[in-house]
Amino acid sequence: MVPGPTNVPARVMRAMLRPIINHRGPEFKELYAKILENAKYVFQTKGDVMILTASGTGGVECAVSNIVQGANKILVPNFGFFGERLRDNIVAMGGKPVEISVEWGKGVTMDMIEEAVKRDKDIKAIALVYNETSTGTKVNCLKEIGEFCDEHNLLFVVDAISVLAGDYLPVDDWHIDICIAGSQKCLMCPPGLSLLSISEKAWSVIEKSTNTFYFNLKAYRKYEKEGQTPYTPAIPLYFALDEALKMIKEEGLENSIHRHRICAEAIYRAVESMGLVPFAEEKFRSNTVIAIKYPPKISDSSFREILRNKYNVVIAGGQGKLKGSIFRIGSMGLITQAEVLQVIGALNMALSDLGFEPKFNDSISAARNVFSREVK
Ligand SMILES: Cc1ncc(COP(=O)(O)O)c(C=O)c1O
Repeated sequence: MVPGPTNVPARVMRAMLRPIINHRGPEFKELYAKILENAKYVFQTKGDVMILTASGTGGVECAVSNIVQGANKILVPNFGFFGERLRDNIVAMGGKPVEISVEWGKGVTMDMIEEAVKRDKDIKAIALVYNETSTGTKVNCLKEIGEFCDEHNLLFVVDAISVLAGDYLPVDDWHIDICIAGSQKCLMCPPGLSLLSISEKAWSVIEKSTNTFYFNLKAYRKYEKEGQTPYTPAIPLYFALDEALKMIKEEGLENSIHRHRICAEAIYRAVESMGLVPFAEEKFRSNTVIAIKYPPKISDSSFREILRNKYNVVIAGGQGKLKGSIFRIGSMGLITQAEVLQVIGALNMALSDLGFEPKFNDSISAARNVFSREVK
């Protein structure tokens, strides 16, 4: 139950046992075409999608390095550890980030964006983390920011690594020019692939880039036309992604998002009924990462050790400046009522072992109420 890598379905694991194929041959071409078709369904885009053999950070670096020459000054709302990394990535690639610093636990607002763009006419793009995995917060005005970018001819880059398929994200409708996802989160795959959707507007900026080689999107586009990638892809991971995307299609994207919503809501309601407090302000709460403040006197390492060793549940601690003060539950991918109830039970037991008496019955009832509302 960590916020990535998440549990991988047996079907997806088994898919990786297929013999390795020639990445310049007809089988790969067929495989890649299927992956792209289903990935476009998940991104809800008619634009291009590229699949990179790289973890999520590679996807972010690819996006940034391909646009910094054409759009050097980039507005970066920052409200957590991954927002900081995005800012640092822009600096490392030679861009100029203009930061909007938001208190962790809260999210960016439209007013902040409009004001920052009004103040600095050289801003050419907005790049942000949709779902901030470190704080369990999300941007609740993504659509409005996309419309604003469209009106003001700004490029819109979204790190959706911990959320694609787990929350509403229609890339084309929301005018997102580059959207980045990671295989190991809601997509239920092992780590190692990142997926990027790219709009026509993004290509007009990417055309100007000369400062990247391995992540050169123009090379990816050229090879994709032949059903290939420019460099040798991690073939077993492509088999896995193909299977996982098929599973999402079988379930239906709307249903997948809805399932994530219900599971997250059940966890939020349960932890609140136990007497715990989520870290994120309610209106900014993530649908896939539930961050919870530790009650006084509960040690992060003892709590998570008990959960892991005694109750067989692995969750994450805080990152960056939140280390030791919060814990995080990943409610992503292969998540159902069964996992939610197990994690709630385990949280109650571990807290009680450490001398904090949670309201066990109330928490289970709260989760049950959310799920029973859903039973038709
Ligand atoms: C929002 C976000 N961005 C970027 C990353 C980095 O991804 P990776 O660790 O796959 O490189 C993560 C990973 O957790 C993330 O959650």
